[in-house]
Amino acid sequence: MSTVNKSPAVIKCKAAVAWGPGEPLVMEEVDVDPPKEMEIRVKVVCTSICRSDVTQWENKVQSDLFPRIFGHEASGIVESVGEGVTEFQIGDHVLTVFIGECKNCKHCVSGKSNMCQKLGLERMGLMHSDQKTRFSVRGKPVYHYCAVSSFSEYTVVHSGSAVKIDTAVPMDRVCLLSCGVSAGLGAAWNVADITRGSTVVIFGLGTVGLSVAQGAKLRGASKIIGVDTNPEKREKGIAFGITDFINPDTCSQPVQQVIKGLTDGGADYSFECVGDTGVVTTALQSCCDGWGLTVTLGVPKLKPEVIAHYGLLLSGRTLKGSLFGGWRPKSDLPLLVNKYMNNEFELNNLVSHDMPFASINQALDLMREQKCLRCVLHM
Ligand SMILES: NC(=O)c1ccc[n+]([C@@H]2O[C@H](COP(=O)([O-])OP(=O)(O)OC[C@H]3O[C@@H](n4cnc5c(N)ncnc54)[C@H](O)[C@@H]3O)[C@@H](O)[C@H]2O)c1
Ligand SMILES: [Zn+2]
Ligand SMILES: [Zn+2]
Repeated sequence: MSTVNKSPAVIKCKAAVAWGPGEPLVMEEVDVDPPKEMEIRVKVVCTSICRSDVTQWENKVQSDLFPRIFGHEASGIVESVGEGVTEFQIGDHVLTVFIGECKNCKHCVSGKSNMCQKLGLERMGLMHSDQKTRFSVRGKPVYHYCAVSSFSEYTVVHSGSAVKIDTAVPMDRVCLLSCGVSAGLGAAWNVADITRGSTVVIFGLGTVGLSVAQGAKLRGASKIIGVDTNPEKREKGIAFGITDFINPDTCSQPVQQVIKGLTDGGADYSFECVGDTGVVTTALQSCCDGWGLTVTLGVPKLKPEVIAHYGLLLSGRTLKGSLFGGWRPKSDLPLLVNKYMNNEFELNNLVSHDMPFASINQALDLMREQKCLRCVLHM
C-alpha cells in the first residue's frame, strides 16, 4: 500500500518568525505548503538552538533574507510525504540535517566527503529543488534556514535531508545529534582522527568544543587543553574530558605560548570551536611543526578571511575545515544514534535548559549572553 498522501493540504501552525537581523522572533501563524516531489513535511517535536542560528539571525549582511524561520537542530515525526518518497512513511521519527546526502553526486559517491553537491549547505533561504519557499505569513513568503527551519511546529525538508531514527530514541535529547554534538565528535574522530596518547587543544567549550573534548578523551588523548574566555567553562570542560583549562584573558603570555609550554612545542591537534577567524590563527600557532593539524569548525560572525604566516604551513602544519564533523548523514548518522543509545558517549548533560517553544526569545537571550549550552525547545 502506498503511504503517499495524494493531496496533503496547507497546514496552518505556529512558527517563530525573524523579521529582521537580531530582532526578537514573533510567534506567527504561518502557512506550510504540502511537501513537493521527494520532500517530506515534518511535525517538529523538539529543536535545540545552535550558535549558528544566532550568528545568522544577527547577521546584517543577509538582511534581505527576512522574514525567515531559523532552527536546524531538530527531531520530529513525518506528517506527510511528497511524490516519489519511498524511504519515509507517515509517522516515522526523524532527525533533520543541514547538509543532506543524495548518494549520487561526485561527493556522495567519493566516500571521502559529506559536501553533497545537490543537498549541500543552503545559503539562500530556499528549498534545494525549486529555489522557492514552503512557508508564508499573511501571503508573504518566509525564507528557510539551511533548508531545515525547525523553529516552526511543521516544516518541509528534502527527504535527503532527514534521517530515520527508532521510535525508542528520546526525541528531546537526540536532536543535539542533528548538528552540534555530531559536528564535535566527528571533528575529533573523522576529520582529525585523533590517535592515542596525543595532545589536543580546543578553543571554545560550548556544545561543539565539549563534544570535541569528549571525542578526544574516548580516543585516549593524553592531554586535552580547553581554552575559553568564560571561566565557568572549566568545570563543564573537566566533566567532558579536558585535563587543563586556560582563560586567555588572564594569561600573562599569549595563549599559544602557554600551550607550547604545556605540549613540548605545540599540540598534535588544535580545534577552533568559537567562530572567530582570529582564533583560527591562534589555533594554528598552537599546534606543532611537522604534523600539527588545526581543525576549524566555527562559523565566523565577521571577517571570513584567515590570516596566517606562511611559515606555519611551510613548517608542515595543516589547516582543515569541517562541516557536520565529516559525517555523511544517511550513511553514518544512524550508527552515531546507536552509539548514543548504547551509552558510548555522553550527550544528555549538554542540555542545560528544557523550555516550551513559546519561550524561544528567552532561550536566544541565554545563548547570546553565553549562559547556556543547549536549550531544547519542546514544541
Ligand atoms: N562546522 C560545523 O559543522 C558546526 C556545527 C555547529 C556549530 N558550529 C559553529 O561552531 C561554533 C561553536 O558552536 P557552539 O554551539 O558550541 O557555540 P557556543 O557559543 O555555545 O560556544 C562557544 C564558546 O566559545 C567561547 N569563546 C568565545 N570567544 C572566545 C575566545 N576568543 N577564545 C576562547 N573561547 C571563546 C565562549 O565562551 C563559548 O563557551 C560556532 O561558531 C558555531 O556556529 C559549526
Ligand atoms: Zn548547528
Ligand atoms: Zn550528493
